Amino acid sequence: MKLAEIHSPVECERTELTPSFRIDLREYSDKEYNKFVKLNSVNDWSQLTWKDIGKPYEVTTFAKEKLDWEKDNESELPVHTSWEMFNRSFHSWFVKDVPAEIDKEKKQFIGQLKRFNLNGVKSALGDVMRIHLWNYAHRIEDGIWDPRGKRALFEGLDVQRPKILFLGAAEGYEAMQLSALYPGGEIVMVDYDNFCKDTRFAEFPDSYPFLGMNEQTGNHKIYRKEDFHVHYEVEDIRKLKYGKEFDIVLSVGMLEHFPDAYKAEVVEWHRKFLKPGGYIVMTTPRAQLRSKFYYEIMSDVMNHTYRELMTIQQMGLYLYENGLDILKHGYIKVHNGIIAKVK
Ligand SMILES: C[S@@+](CC[C@H](N)C(=O)[O-])C[C@H]1O[C@@H](n2cnc3c(N)ncnc32)[C@H](O)[C@@H]1O
Repeated sequence: MKLAEIHSPVECERTELTPSFRIDLREYSDKEYNKFVKLNSVNDWSQLTWKDIGKPYEVTTFAKEKLDWEKDNESELPVHTSWEMFNRSFHSWFVKDVPAEIDKEKKQFIGQLKRFNLNGVKSALGDVMRIHLWNYAHRIEDGIWDPRGKRALFEGLDVQRPKILFLGAAEGYEAMQLSALYPGGEIVMVDYDNFCKDTRFAEFPDSYPFLGMNEQTGNHKIYRKEDFHVHYEVEDIRKLKYGKEFDIVLSVGMLEHFPDAYKAEVVEWHRKFLKPGGYIVMTTPRAQLRSKFYYEIMSDVMNHTYRELMTIQQMGLYLYENGLDILKHGYIKVHNGIIAKVK
């Protein structure tokens, strides 16, 4: 094990851009906390109605890969296959050497311009736009992993050495961040696309530092992937055999992929495996203008599945209506977040 303990304030201020992602070990003071998470805008969930807050925004621009499959097969893309396409596509962006890619796309664009090839210019322009948007959203702004926002959202749970269940775990980022904050427990990651276990999680950078806590000293400590106790299960959530044995059940980007008729079932997936008094932690993408823009420009990369963008009020009302007691709610850079218990 290579656990590094942080004693120096300088290490806590460290942020660094690698070619593919940002490292961000910056701590925040109590005063700064509200910069990273905007909390608790709703005082009384029983007063909210769908009539007042409206329904989520549905993203209807789909990936070409999905549309082509449906044309070729004259049927709707099966949900499992849509996740297989999504995960392969999304992963291919996380591993890009972004500065090198920006350079390459720029050269290709200029090459098409010089040839006066209109279709080539249009296509190359789209590629240039996407790589710049990815650079800004993921690498510069760190909007997808958002460690400071997630740490602010996840802090304050009353758990020790928790057993964490991550439903639809993909690369497992948020469970690792939770486990760094509440160390010594174990993580069960579940995803029914084996690519998530074998590639997205397996290739998640070993060097990526998660800022967390040292149980013994209460100081900050850096954890890396190899320091967590992870069991990764490739299985459909609906077939899991676990009992009510987890201190935290987590999902990130799950609820918004189900139309209203299925939302109760998704909430039940979380409740089903929770110890009495355990926490449900859920996040969903925000319905903000910049997210709508992002999913439009990145539709070929991201939109293989049904997808909604919702406000924190809408997300909270789904959980409240389905029997959860909302302890903390708010939004971080690009996601809404809720910490809840079963009523
Ligand atoms: C949108 S992703 C979660 C977002 C994630 N943070 C990411 O970076 O991709 C949802 C994940 O849930 C998985 N999933 C969806 N339905 C599932 C089910 N019934 N059982 C297991 N996994 C499921 C998909 O394979 C996918 O990897």
